[in-house]
Amino acid sequence: MTRSYEANGVGVGSQETIIDPIIAIKPSAPQKIPQLVQDVQSRFETFANGSLDTRLELLEAARSLVHALETPQETLIQQAWVQPTAFAAIETCIDLGVFKVLAWSDEPKTVEELALKTGAAPDLLSRLLKHLAAVDVVVETGLDQYSRNGLTTTLSIKRYSDAWPAISGCSASAVSAMPIWFKENGYNSPIDGNNSPFQTGFRTECLFFDFLRGKNPDYPDLGSQFNNLMSAYHQGRASWMDPNTYPVQEKLIDGASTKENHVLIVDVGGNKGHDLEEFRLKWPNAPGRLILQDLPQILEDIKSLDSAIEPMAHDFYTEQPVKGARAYFLHSVLHDWSDETCQLILRRLVDAMTPGYSKLLINENVVPDIGAHCQATSLDLIMLADLGARERTEKQWREVIAPTGLVISKIWTPVNSAESLIECELKEIG
Ligand SMILES: C[S@@+](CC[C@H](N)C(=O)[O-])C[C@H]1O[C@@H](n2cnc3c(N)ncnc32)[C@H](O)[C@@H]1O
Repeated sequence: MTRSYEANGVGVGSQETIIDPIIAIKPSAPQKIPQLVQDVQSRFETFANGSLDTRLELLEAARSLVHALETPQETLIQQAWVQPTAFAAIETCIDLGVFKVLAWSDEPKTVEELALKTGAAPDLLSRLLKHLAAVDVVVETGLDQYSRNGLTTTLSIKRYSDAWPAISGCSASAVSAMPIWFKENGYNSPIDGNNSPFQTGFRTECLFFDFLRGKNPDYPDLGSQFNNLMSAYHQGRASWMDPNTYPVQEKLIDGASTKENHVLIVDVGGNKGHDLEEFRLKWPNAPGRLILQDLPQILEDIKSLDSAIEPMAHDFYTEQPVKGARAYFLHSVLHDWSDETCQLILRRLVDAMTPGYSKLLINENVVPDIGAHCQATSLDLIMLADLGARERTEKQWREVIAPTGLVISKIWTPVNSAESLIECELKEIG
């Protein structure tokens, strides 16, 4: 029997390889499947025996198995159809309040009931929910009848559900515009937030942060939605403040000043204060003041804050008003900026630090040279698209930090965490 197919000629120098398109409809990495099935099985056994720490390993193994099993044609459908439409359907149902109604109880709700409660047309709701059931965002319990699972219920919590409009309002169009922007700019990385895929995608001359300050007319609540995305992003992740990670007692508390009013930590660009609140929870007896700095409009958006934390409006390009704190903390701030801008921000802190006493703690991705996690690589491309900025490797961090008079004393990376803690001190002079 003969099989006819359209062969592609792929030229490499003078050689040409003929590619049989049948590859597109076979599993992507069949040789890996037996080992991956074993990996999933063994990790599941450890997980089922109560080792919760292995959940992430099980998840990664299961994902690798799916990727090996899936054919390229199926991947194409997933990425081109399934994921973008699921994102849009979720955002629409958040906007309508569908998940809030489903989250009330385990009792299934019909599309008619949901339409009555939300004001959406039943036909539209029926189509959106069919897709969301197909991707396990809601549970289909009968014809046009749905109930909740953990994801459905989470989507009823504003702090989490705000991630969808936040991404649509300031990132999605920038990411979509990347191929066009690269083509028009000679396939170079952008180095300036004034000229990045953001402006092309959103058809604007604004900067990313202008959109957060209310300049995107389609998303008037973008600022507070983005703040919620920031606070939800870190939930449930391993943190540098956890035991057996950064030695908080030895490095921050021991040796800290005992003077009245001494400042233990200044969280610079700390957004709504979620990191300092976590610190208070994990280190309730740590002595010293905790100061939260951000732009005034961000601090005004805070609904509640641990009373031990002092909000202070501050622009990090200007002189740092808190001198000689034990630690200045920057979390997911420097990845928003080019190397030159990072150095400007760092120099303001260097000027305020006390030699031999103050530390600078940078909490960011340190992207491994090989084997980087997709959370870090995707965030790198979002930083590129929105701000002409980047996630950095250890070498890149050293290059940014060295000219500012700081030296990296050590980098800590919690197990199963995408983010590291880079501890810096002032370089000794002489
Ligand atoms: C990506 S968010 C990180 C927030 C927080 N540290 C966290 O990890 O969740 C960057 C923060 O920098 C703040 N920011 C931007 N420009 C600033 C400036 N000029 N001065 C102070 N904060 C600024 C933003 O308001 C935002 O809260």
